[in-house]
Amino acid sequence: MCCPGSGRTGKGSVGDGISGPGSRSLGRMGFFTLDDFNVRGRKILVRVDINSPVDERTLRLEDGSKIRSSVPTIRELIDRGARVAILAHQGRPGDYDFISLNEHAQYLSQFTGKKIRYVDDILGPHAMRAIQNLADGEAILMQNVRNLSEEQVKRSPEEHSESQLVKTLSSKFDLYVNDAFGSSHRAHASLVGFTPVMPSAAGRLLEREVSTLSKVFQTPARPSTYIFGGTKFSDALQAIEKLADKDNADNLIIAGLAGYAFLWVLGKRVGARTEDKIKKDVGEEVAAAARKLYDRRKEKIQLPVDGAVEIEDHRVEFDIDKMPGDAAILDIGSASIERFNKTIMASKTVFLSGPPGMFEREEFCKGTKEMFEAIIESGAYSVIGGGHSGAAANKLGLLDKFSYVSTGGGALERLMLGKEMPVIEALRASAKKL
Ligand code: 3PG
Ligand code: MG
Repeated sequence: MCCPGSGRTGKGSVGDGISGPGSRSLGRMGFFTLDDFNVRGRKILVRVDINSPVDERTLRLEDGSKIRSSVPTIRELIDRGARVAILAHQGRPGDYDFISLNEHAQYLSQFTGKKIRYVDDILGPHAMRAIQNLADGEAILMQNVRNLSEEQVKRSPEEHSESQLVKTLSSKFDLYVNDAFGSSHRAHASLVGFTPVMPSAAGRLLEREVSTLSKVFQTPARPSTYIFGGTKFSDALQAIEKLADKDNADNLIIAGLAGYAFLWVLGKRVGARTEDKIKKDVGEEVAAAARKLYDRRKEKIQLPVDGAVEIEDHRVEFDIDKMPGDAAILDIGSASIERFNKTIMASKTVFLSGPPGMFEREEFCKGTKEMFEAIIESGAYSVIGGGHSGAAANKLGLLDKFSYVSTGGGALERLMLGKEMPVIEALRASAKKL
């Protein structure tokens, strides 16, 4: 058994005492961290979030920046002589990006400088043997945990602790470490099921995300501007509604497909092929809520005034009122960029969740590139996250220019709203028990 209180200082040894709420990391955030455990020679089960964008044609990973964010925890555990098995997911069953984690293991090996073997199993004999044979300072990556049907069912931590996954693996490990900040809004088996039955700690990424972001959202420097892009308007709307009512949130910019979805619910025509995409995401309830919000808070909200479409392999921009009937808008247009950037330049805090256009394609990267550049140039405290914002910043060579790049999408939005985060709650509950 691996107990807190011994820590990395090597003062104590495993099992020599349990630190209570007075310990350093508990005092700050209410959960244990890697500082609180002696991990040498111990078997550690680590849940990370390395869910990455996938090229739809080749099914290869498009970007490794989220994988890189998981490296500090894994590297530290390896360096401290732990025996590490990593659990992670990629995509969702039925989606094209639901692929094996084989390539992720190659990225991890490259980033850590240590061979991290991919084990195509979780609960079978192959996995059991691999776990059993782990040497000090060795790490393996297990199969995509969403292959298990019980993984994604929404249950309480206690209910999940009865799952095959938790029952099988909890007895094989001394400590559970959760570093999956990007999934901390999900109550899935591998995310919350181990904490009721095992000593548990947050990894370095989760620790850093929670402490940095809580500060930014509670007391942003003003004026503060919140930009929502990406494709999921229905997901973003809740966050937008809450922010609209917050006194310390000054401007709300809705770009990307989300912005056109907002225009569409307000009765604008944004092109048949854009509307087909929007209709998959936005139902009548969301549309009604968005209209109500706009009526109430329109002075805070900025929407696109034009958009870029593809005509014969070229980018062509149209004002919203002149959008071709069959258009598929792929980026915001120059007039929208100019307006949005004016607001950005006058801000002291800028938060961006989700890219404003289809940055993966050269012709439609303009909105993302120019808004990112304005955010950096503004000198505001800048936080980007959500959707594939980190990947976009990486592609543009701007990743290290923002004050903070979060790996969270939905997680970031929930944290921003002060909503309950199942993973953080589970870690706190587990810490209280010990
Ligand atoms: C994400 O990328 O959003 C996280 O990895 C969580 O994945 P999910 O949205 O498919 O649950
Ligand atoms: Mg998601």
